[in-house]
Amino acid sequence: MVYQVYVRSFADGNADGVGDIAGLISRLPYIASLGVDAIWVNPWYVSPLLDGGYDVADYRDIHPLYGSLEDAKRLIDEAGAAGIRVLVDLVPNHTSWDHAWFRAALDADPGSPERSRYHFLPGKGRHGQLPPNNWKSVFGGSAWTRVPDGEWYLHMFDVSQPDLNWDNPDVREEFIDILRFWLDLGVSGFRVDVAHALVKEADYPDAEDDTDAVLSNPTGEGHPLWDRPELHDVVREWRVVLDDYQEKVMVAEAWIPSWERLAKYVRPDEYHQAFDFHFLKAPWDPEAVRATIEGSVAATASVGSIPTWVLSNHDVIRHVTRYGLAPHVEERAWLLSGDEGRLDLDLGLRRARAATLLLLGLPGSVYLYQGEELGLHEVHDLPEGVIDDPVWERSGHADKGRDGCRVPIPWKREGPSFGFGDNGSWLPQPEIWSELSVESQDGVEGSTLELYRAAIRVRAERLGDDESLEWIDVGPGALAFRRGGGVTCLINYGDEPVSRPEGVLLLASGPLQGDSVPADTAVWMADT
Ligand code: BGC
Repeated sequence: MVYQVYVRSFADGNADGVGDIAGLISRLPYIASLGVDAIWVNPWYVSPLLDGGYDVADYRDIHPLYGSLEDAKRLIDEAGAAGIRVLVDLVPNHTSWDHAWFRAALDADPGSPERSRYHFLPGKGRHGQLPPNNWKSVFGGSAWTRVPDGEWYLHMFDVSQPDLNWDNPDVREEFIDILRFWLDLGVSGFRVDVAHALVKEADYPDAEDDTDAVLSNPTGEGHPLWDRPELHDVVREWRVVLDDYQEKVMVAEAWIPSWERLAKYVRPDEYHQAFDFHFLKAPWDPEAVRATIEGSVAATASVGSIPTWVLSNHDVIRHVTRYGLAPHVEERAWLLSGDEGRLDLDLGLRRARAATLLLLGLPGSVYLYQGEELGLHEVHDLPEGVIDDPVWERSGHADKGRDGCRVPIPWKREGPSFGFGDNGSWLPQPEIWSELSVESQDGVEGSTLELYRAAIRVRAERLGDDESLEWIDVGPGALAFRRGGGVTCLINYGDEPVSRPEGVLLLASGPLQGDSVPADTAVWMADT
């Protein structure tokens, strides 16, 4: 069980309004109290922070806003002493434009070794005034930007994030060295950013569709940018490095539409884990959810691996809000319109709590995102003036971006930033977060925080050793399965109450009606 820490928004130790390593260290007892095995820390490296740190200028040093390498080491040691491992984020698809390599590439000539570490190409058109092909940036607009001498460079994300050329041996060696640097410092592994990117088709053909094609195309075959077969060679090289150490892991962030292709990432000599985003995207519907569970379990089993589940992270709308939106509301458009009438947060929280019992009842690994254990929702009404996500500008203000799930954590009931720090927070928190703060929920029976703690504890005690799952027919509207440890999980998606399975009640996500489980509620029952 891994807890994701978005360090910028977790806890501020030096009163500058931004979270940091000192703040994180001070909150290790809280993380330990959740019962998780590890934390994954989002990028904390030197960076101009034009994409929240996913624009790395120096992979071997810490951004001064967050602390120093000594602080990182202290975190790894103190977390280790508390039984918590530390995973860091590896960002191999692109660097920042402030990285020494990119600066050198800009100063060098077309065709130079410095440029060949990135993707520099002449443009099309009589004067090379058109981009080399039709590839689009994930954040909007063309994926190519022209430099003063006329060449264009590729950036699948922001203009400040030039893509590295993974056919270049310098790039391969550099990242092996970066892996060793962090492993030697004591981290337990890496979450690998856009793991399905990396290698591009060598002759840069036009894409038949836009960059999202791989997400809508069920096979993902043959896209020039995404999920190229060649990238697996790179992963195997990394795996050899990790296997030189004891008990290290890599988890892939790969938004892949087909389970069959996703399973390739977790073959025995590649990643240990790959997030299954089908589960996160599934609607509130038992058949859809069951299909994602079956798909992921079968695909990972076919390569001898297990699934990795997640409901929220720093890139998606928090699941309390997702589940509280009327069906068929397009999330991005809703974020912009701010039409609150279509959001029911009470319903969203009820469903989120039920989904948590489902999530923690599943076989495989689970990642939690900071604040979900408090039932935090997306802050959809952040004023435009505070928006930091490059998506906002690059989409021409058509997409509000991801800041709403990155708002700093409320620790206390009171105070200017609800205990996040002593001097405000870099994004404003809603007043209602006082009631959702750690202080308001700690030790309070029935709170979301205590539900998470209890479910994590029972999962560790009873569901640890046996990965089996057996479906139980409970009629339409609900899902139920029995796990090897003698625990049955039932979740009711329908409108009508459903009978509770036999056995002893271990946990319920909300109030029960006698022996019935009401709508939008889940239970765990034990055989004995
Ligand atoms: C990260 C994002 C980031 C993007 C580019 C991802 O998928 O999770 O936060 O913007 O990669 O690095």
